[in-house]
Amino acid sequence: MTTYKSNTINIGIVGVGTVGGGAVTILARNAELIANRLTKIRLARIADKDLERASKLVSELGLQDVIISDDWHDLITDPTISIIIEVVGGINLPMQIISTALKNGKSVVTANKDLISSHGDELLALAEENGVDLLFEAAVAGGIPIIQVVKESLAADKINSIMGIVNGTTNYILTAMSENNLPFAEALKQAQDLGYAEADPTSDVEGLDAARKIAILASVAFNSRVKDKQVPVEGITKISQWDIQYAKEFGYAIKMLGIAKCDGRQIEVRVHPALIPLTHPLATVRDSYNAVYIESDDVDKAMFTGRGAGALPTGSAILGDVINAARNICLQTRGRINCTCFASYPIKSLDDTISQYYIRINAKDAAGVFAAIAKALGNEDVSIASAMQKRWISEHNAEIVVITHAVRHADFMRAVEQIGKLECVDAVENIIRVEE
Ligand code: HSE
Repeated sequence: MTTYKSNTINIGIVGVGTVGGGAVTILARNAELIANRLTKIRLARIADKDLERASKLVSELGLQDVIISDDWHDLITDPTISIIIEVVGGINLPMQIISTALKNGKSVVTANKDLISSHGDELLALAEENGVDLLFEAAVAGGIPIIQVVKESLAADKINSIMGIVNGTTNYILTAMSENNLPFAEALKQAQDLGYAEADPTSDVEGLDAARKIAILASVAFNSRVKDKQVPVEGITKISQWDIQYAKEFGYAIKMLGIAKCDGRQIEVRVHPALIPLTHPLATVRDSYNAVYIESDDVDKAMFTGRGAGALPTGSAILGDVINAARNICLQTRGRINCTCFASYPIKSLDDTISQYYIRINAKDAAGVFAAIAKALGNEDVSIASAMQKRWISEHNAEIVVITHAVRHADFMRAVEQIGKLECVDAVENIIRVEE
């Protein structure tokens, strides 16, 4: 018989923009359900620099007795509040808010991937020191419950690799390029018109957003800290309609992937577009959906998919964490699971990573050209898996597309350099990794 149903847990939220607004909306709508499932969770305070937007939200949702202010300190110093949701975004201000909250004995729930992927270690240590929770489910792949799955549900299993489509904007763009034959620029414009891509889309299309998410996933999966800056990134801006069409002919889709692997000695981590077989579960993840594909010793292969962004999916992940933090308060088990990084594996150098590669070359259409390219590859021990020459670029030039067997990155890049210098080659148009 639980006795804590009579408790009311007061919470505060800093930031009621899109994601914060989503969390507050769900809390208002599902208040009774949440109270029945655990206990009453009451939004006591909101801090937002835009007082008008906060008042509008509160009145639209019919929330009563919520104190609104434009100073986050008001939440931290309120002794009745035990959980703070931080959804401000950025690094410096949230760092200040979260660390002050933790030091003041508040549990914190955040969706801030920038901060967790760069300063997660310091903040988790602070949470542990103060015997409170710091939870960040919403920081990775929005509504997909993956952090708790990895930290708790798979706690007995050894995870060997994670491949994730963890950026909705780039998945939308690549899907539009593939299914509607749009060039990159038009697909990006469509993503912007639909509100997926920001006016400045750099962090999405160049892979920085995905790097933060795969850094967090790698840290929890391999119990060893990986920071955002340690993740080599390559964006999707060079992917052309030709690459998409050739990939299809070879039986592949092009997806923007975050990849993390651990062999028990080193962690390999990277973000880049990749060819994946059309039969791979990740190839079926379309539009702005996200997915995380895990290979482990015991569960083997499992994929988790869903909405990676948006007010309600992300708000739902935030409130799931709030309920967890509230449960820990009710059961007096705060700080139950904090930092899980007990190991410290080095990050494998990108040069030593091993992949298959796709290479598209603009070359003279003449005798011996293919042989010259094959020789340059062979010089570096790069073996050809498939090759195709279909398109004539001009009267004298053709396009040669090769897929290699698995090769060390540095060896492949040396071969690419030699190919680029061949008299008969006008340009190496693109190189893209192939993942199975
Ligand atoms: N910009 C991200 C995406 C959502 O496109 O998936 C927030 O992380």
